Amino acid sequence: MAQTQKVDDLSFWFPTEVVEEGRVEFLVPKLKAFVKEAWEYAPSKAPVFYNPAMELNRDLAVLALQTYQRLAKRELVACEPLAGCGVRGIRFAREVEGVRKAVVNDISSDAARLAEFNVNMNGLADKVVVDNKDANFLLSGYAAPRKRFDYVDVDPFGSPVPYIDSALRALRNGGLLALTATDMAPLCGVHAKACLRKYGGKPMRTDYCHELAVRLLIGCLAMLAAKHDIGVTAVFSYSDYNYVRTYAIASYGAKQADNSVQKMGSILHCFSCFHREDQSGLTSPLRRDCPECGSRLQVAGPLWLGSLWDEEFCVMLGSEARLKSLRNKIKILKILSLITGEIHAPITYYAIDKLCDKFNLPVPSLSKVIKGLTEAGFQAVATHFNSKAVRTNASATILKVALTRFAEVSGSRMQEAI
Ligand SMILES: C[S@@+](CC[C@H](N)C(=O)[O-])C[C@H]1O[C@@H](n2cnc3c(N)ncnc32)[C@H](O)[C@@H]1O
Ligand SMILES: [Zn+2]
Repeated sequence: MAQTQKVDDLSFWFPTEVVEEGRVEFLVPKLKAFVKEAWEYAPSKAPVFYNPAMELNRDLAVLALQTYQRLAKRELVACEPLAGCGVRGIRFAREVEGVRKAVVNDISSDAARLAEFNVNMNGLADKVVVDNKDANFLLSGYAAPRKRFDYVDVDPFGSPVPYIDSALRALRNGGLLALTATDMAPLCGVHAKACLRKYGGKPMRTDYCHELAVRLLIGCLAMLAAKHDIGVTAVFSYSDYNYVRTYAIASYGAKQADNSVQKMGSILHCFSCFHREDQSGLTSPLRRDCPECGSRLQVAGPLWLGSLWDEEFCVMLGSEARLKSLRNKIKILKILSLITGEIHAPITYYAIDKLCDKFNLPVPSLSKVIKGLTEAGFQAVATHFNSKAVRTNASATILKVALTRFAEVSGSRMQEAI
């Protein structure tokens, strides 16, 4: 733990407490003081936002920024335009080698004061600048050449979309943009209209809706970036808890933008037999009927069909995670290990429990399904998106036949069932 300065927290009108995360200590509103009922969600009740449940999100941000710095091999300037109590930006300054400066900002004056307090408490006043503006206004002030950031981390309430344009304008060529989206009801298809409105793509309530959510988010980013002649490459994406998150590198140039737009398309899904397929492009007519059972196909998109991950980035992220002492280290390494297996696997996954439920079959263990499919010559891997799901190039029909026979010959090996 780094040396912290003696603090006088009497200057805040709300009750506070000191907490520890990563290699920093900082002052936050005493969350318990803001809940009257057990079911209430304290972070949103407190005068300044701090959610301890997002520690893993911040840990991964520290690791991703360090990975990016090692690849970029230069000193970095980072920006957190919606910072709450400032913990994320303060962690960047303290825990990431090569961060020269971090700008942390929040529209709330209480938040900005608390962030300033926390910067001083950690002795980082020479590295972390605190501001108190609207995020878009702040970012616009850094949009000119040579003023731009190497890294912008947009971690808002709900959707990051209102901030993407100005974040892109404030990002240098080759810079890294991180986006958190917690508006899972729109992105997972519960509020489809809101998703179409905000992200420009239609969601779908499928067993793989979390992957669709990430693809809708990156698709929205790619289309907004294309308007500025900027291409995007997603290097790391995941879902956890109540959010999805992506890290993407922005590359200036019309050609780069065109390359990103070419990675847009749709995912077609059959709710009768679970068949799904992707269709590239934004303009070609979509297939209407399921090639496996003839039912009408439903569509999600336009969304990102390109990769969600860059292999080198993810491997380096894993190496950084192994070196660090983090409270969430085991969970982070598990997520990273699953993602490493997913990078080259087919798009979308099948939730085995949902499939078995629909077809009234007993649910076999995921490891048995993966083993059986692999031994039968199919690609089959687990996914971090869902602990009961498999990514495979076996069709929905083959999977159904296999699960049915597997149930019939229960006790025998999956391979024999196939
Ligand atoms: C989810 S919290 C940020 C959490 C923080 N990133 C972290 O890792 O702990 C979102 C923050 O955005 C701030 N905010 C909301 N609208 C804003 C705006 N237009 N400009 C700047 N900050 C804003 C809120 O005051 C809140 O502190
Ligand atoms: Zn079908």
